[in-house]
Amino acid sequence: MNKIISVSNQKGGVGKTTTAINLAASLAMADRSVLLVDLDPQSNLTSGLGLTGHAAEGGTIYDALTSDQETDPADLELDTEVTGLRVIPADRHLTGAEVELVTLSDRESRLRPLLSRARARYDFILIDTPPSLGLLTLNALVAADSVLIPMNCEYFALEGLAELTATIGRVQAYLNPQLSIEGILLTMADSRTLLGQGVAAEVRSHFADKVYATTIPRNIRLAEAPGHGVPAILYDVRSSGAEAYLSLAREVLERHSPPPTLPEPLL
Ligand SMILES: Nc1ncnc2c1ncn2[C@@H]1O[C@H](COP(=O)(O)OP(=O)(O)OP(=O)(O)O)[C@@H](O)[C@H]1O
Ligand SMILES: [Mg+2]
Repeated sequence: MNKIISVSNQKGGVGKTTTAINLAASLAMADRSVLLVDLDPQSNLTSGLGLTGHAAEGGTIYDALTSDQETDPADLELDTEVTGLRVIPADRHLTGAEVELVTLSDRESRLRPLLSRARARYDFILIDTPPSLGLLTLNALVAADSVLIPMNCEYFALEGLAELTATIGRVQAYLNPQLSIEGILLTMADSRTLLGQGVAAEVRSHFADKVYATTIPRNIRLAEAPGHGVPAILYDVRSSGAEAYLSLAREVLERHSPPPTLPEPLL
């Protein structure tokens, strides 16, 4: 399978990091080997896994992106509390990368060779990107096979989606012709609001089966888990948030392979 998926939306706070962590953990629970890459200077993914201040001997993703030496991705990877799930962390230095990359050669293609070297060891590599369409996100889109787009069910979400799909189109045209849309994920859904239902219906009518059947509900456990440094499935596996991400993982796996190999009791 060996898929590299960028979790992206330039709109802030739509659930990118929550999706990256919890989808990755759910895939790992289904016996897939998964690497998470924190490409956001806020480093919420790194802190959400309880790894703030931790780095492997090769440093963080910042060191790899700005170095002229060829980095072995294995030298950047850390274990997490979930078996089969590893992470390349970020820290505040990554804020500078957005500026430093401008002067470097191949500034939009510096992540791609690094992840190509990691690809064979993982079933899935998920990249968490910042809320912008700057050089860091561009590096993720150039390195990835596909983009998973989390979006919340608000009115302005649709405008943001148009801007993002236009950017994906430009990346396909100039930098990464293979890039596709992995899927659109409706997050923070509140079935009680008519606005949310209207936006969800509109997204489904535009993007049809690109939209996952699973929607992620608003669930406090998803917001609490990062404070404990673990994905929601380890924090409260029975919560509606954890169950929704397990269901999303099943859908992602179904899109990529026939379902019989799934461990049914778990997913
Ligand atoms: N389904 C949910 N239910 C309740 N809270 C959620 C849910 N998803 C995310 N959150 C919370 O909402 C906030 C924003 O989520 P998250 O950090 O995943 O978004 P993001 O898109 O990565 O943000 P940014 O653009 O800043 O990187 C976080 O505090 C998170 O814990
Ligand atoms: Mg984030």
